[in-house]
Amino acid sequence: MKIHDDVRKRLRVLYSENDIAKRIKEIAAKLAEKQLDDPLAITILKGSFIFAADLLRAMHYAGIETEVEFMMISSYRKGTQSGQIEIKKDIDSPVENRNVILIDDILETGRTLAHARDLLMARGAKRVLTCCLLEKPGKRAVAIEADCVGFTCPDQFVVGYGMDMGHSFRELPYIGYLPQEERGETR
Ligand code: IMP
Ligand code: MG
Repeated sequence: MKIHDDVRKRLRVLYSENDIAKRIKEIAAKLAEKQLDDPLAITILKGSFIFAADLLRAMHYAGIETEVEFMMISSYRKGTQSGQIEIKKDIDSPVENRNVILIDDILETGRTLAHARDLLMARGAKRVLTCCLLEKPGKRAVAIEADCVGFTCPDQFVVGYGMDMGHSFRELPYIGYLPQEERGETR
């Protein structure tokens, strides 16, 4: 979108393509060590679609065969609806007795991940192993930590590699941020 051209120019790289690729290989190796029986990867849309695509391929090379499902979740974080979670698209397969690998982009307040994890456990999943590319510490409203984390990131609004600001920037191959002092009205 043209309106974001100015922001695009001022973005700074936080994690490069190479940083991300290297870390994803490490996460896949860690998951392989767990030797999960017949896993089901559940990707939380939209933000984690690129992370999940790369992680799933890295998992393949690490020797993990997995089924894949998608769940679309929105969290309303403003005004009176703060913290409300809505499942916009649910998975199509049952999770009863399955080893689930739940994949998300950012763990911030923890509401999204905790809601999805609790829902899957309530549906009878044997285990839900959570995997987030980024986590922002000190922002948690719900007590949850991910089993696998790519990077602990600074408290900046990040974009790229699947993550958006006003529907833009998801296609960037790196993770970037707009420094606080330059952010102005754009957040
Ligand atoms: P929470 O953990 O429920 O607060 O929500 C985390 C979700 O908020 C993530 O899955 C993202 O979709 C979104 N989010 C949080 N921080 C950022 C950010 O810095 N950039 C883009 N999206 C973010
Ligand atoms: Mg998200």
